[in-house]
Amino acid sequence: MTRHVAPDHGGRQWWKSSVVSQIYPRSFADSNGDGIGDLPGVTSRLDHLAALGVDVVWLSPVYPSPQDDNGYDVADYCDIDPMFGTLADLDDLAAGLRARGMKLVMDLVFNHTSDEHPWFVESRAATDSARRDWYWWRPARPGTTPGTPGAEPNNWGSVFSGPAWTFDETTGEYYLHLFSRKQPDLNWEHPDVRHALHDVMRFWLDRGVDGFRMDVVNFVSKDPALPDGLVAPGARFGDGSPHFLSGPRIHEFLQELHREVIAPHQRPTMVVGEMPGVTLEDARRFTDPDRREVDMVFQFEHVDLDAGASKWDARPLDLRALKASLSRWQVGLADRGWNSLYWNNHDQPRAVSRFGHDGEHRVMAAKMLATVLHLHRGTPYVYQGEELGLANVAFGHIDDFRDIESRNHYAEALAHGADPAVVLEQLRARSRDNARTPMPWDDSPTGGFGSTRPWIALDPGHRRTNAGAALDDPDSVFHHYRRLIALRRDDPVVVHGDFTLLLADDPQVYAFTRRLDGVELLVLGNFGDDPVEPALPDDAAWTDADVVVGTGSGVSLGPWEGRVLRRVH
Ligand code: GLC
Ligand code: CA
Repeated sequence: MTRHVAPDHGGRQWWKSSVVSQIYPRSFADSNGDGIGDLPGVTSRLDHLAALGVDVVWLSPVYPSPQDDNGYDVADYCDIDPMFGTLADLDDLAAGLRARGMKLVMDLVFNHTSDEHPWFVESRAATDSARRDWYWWRPARPGTTPGTPGAEPNNWGSVFSGPAWTFDETTGEYYLHLFSRKQPDLNWEHPDVRHALHDVMRFWLDRGVDGFRMDVVNFVSKDPALPDGLVAPGARFGDGSPHFLSGPRIHEFLQELHREVIAPHQRPTMVVGEMPGVTLEDARRFTDPDRREVDMVFQFEHVDLDAGASKWDARPLDLRALKASLSRWQVGLADRGWNSLYWNNHDQPRAVSRFGHDGEHRVMAAKMLATVLHLHRGTPYVYQGEELGLANVAFGHIDDFRDIESRNHYAEALAHGADPAVVLEQLRARSRDNARTPMPWDDSPTGGFGSTRPWIALDPGHRRTNAGAALDDPDSVFHHYRRLIALRRDDPVVVHGDFTLLLADDPQVYAFTRRLDGVELLVLGNFGDDPVEPALPDDAAWTDADVVVGTGSGVSLGPWEGRVLRRVH
């Protein structure tokens, strides 16, 4: 039996017993009627987060930015975009959080800057500019005419469609951008780049923030040779990822950052690295406390399971694969390291539509998904609107979409002969805009988001599903999340208990136990439209067990029903 470990709220690892709420500021609340959410808007809605009971807020980027990728293209790391407010507004928000016992985590986008960042402006000015090597500049491929198709220095594709290189007339060379052409990649090989980024982190820590979410941070160490990638059958570009995913110096860079910035800081912080494509083996290294790199990573295995050749090529989810993946991470990070737990964020379609049911069973499915996720071992993340059970939006026209990834994919697919109706269907299932519609606060025409037309359309479903209605209804998805978060705070088995997957081969039921000091929880979720009677090894023992969260009793489940049972040995 596992030994009881006391919760560690005040200690260095406070994030182990925390629940994080992610705010996407442009879509949260608009205070000044320009149609775009802002910092005073967030501050005005903190009671909602306090009622939910979360411990930490992660704020997506609010720095000055041309907004090519909604702020993930930063033009100044140490200021606030006027669209979002001022540094004083950020301080007000931080104070409002502190007053409610919550912490603040900033989003750091350090793999790239905006092309309008002064560093890049200087870098691109001349081949002998002092900051030339702060970015990845390369001449055209030998034997080609610079600036013509195919002359790019290598064959890598950008995550946002097209080549990962843009030709720059001024110096006749190309710069690398793994994302949009307005997001040139920083060259972390240059020590001055790393030191400048360390200074940015110190700036925010000195201002009182409690931690960082580091955007695609496992992309920052590249093989400086930048070799061509393999071209998959039917693909237009090579796959560069073997040359930059958790690249040669990544552990060294993260250890340096910890040594230089995190360790010397007085207050205990939390650092989570966003790491697409990270393997479990690497995640063990990244999050092993003895190695002093990051506290946890966002891994992507479970959100890649329903993708085919690309994220746009959606496949039905096989629940067995989902269980196998998440439980492998549970076991893999049990003795070393730590998991982050998420279904949703600003890059993912809404989980209730994707893994659950967004018709008649939407509320049940949203609660069940929450139950299953929050009872895993790790730090759960709740993305704005998830606590209301928000579903995907059914945008009818390409002009309704705002996201650069979605719009570029649409343009590129059509240019290569795809049927627009088919591509729109892909966007409806997969677009990041599904997560970016304005937060519905009430059933008024603007949904309480602001006083004018928002930058992206409000989901008409807000008349029925909104925060006000959810708070008033004790059976709402919101109150279910609130109960799950309270359970994590009150019962140490949720934070510290061991994890055992049951019924690995069952295609419809997600079942596992958590145990600590003679306390055992059984967690059940029905991922199907039909009622089910799971064949658990000792189901009789659970017949009279306490139901701590969820509906019904015993082990049988209605459609999309979830439940947590508790017994003491
Ligand atoms: C991360 C962000 C995403 C952004 C990308 C480039 O994946 O979460 O929103 O587009 O990095 O910064
Ligand atoms: Ca505004």
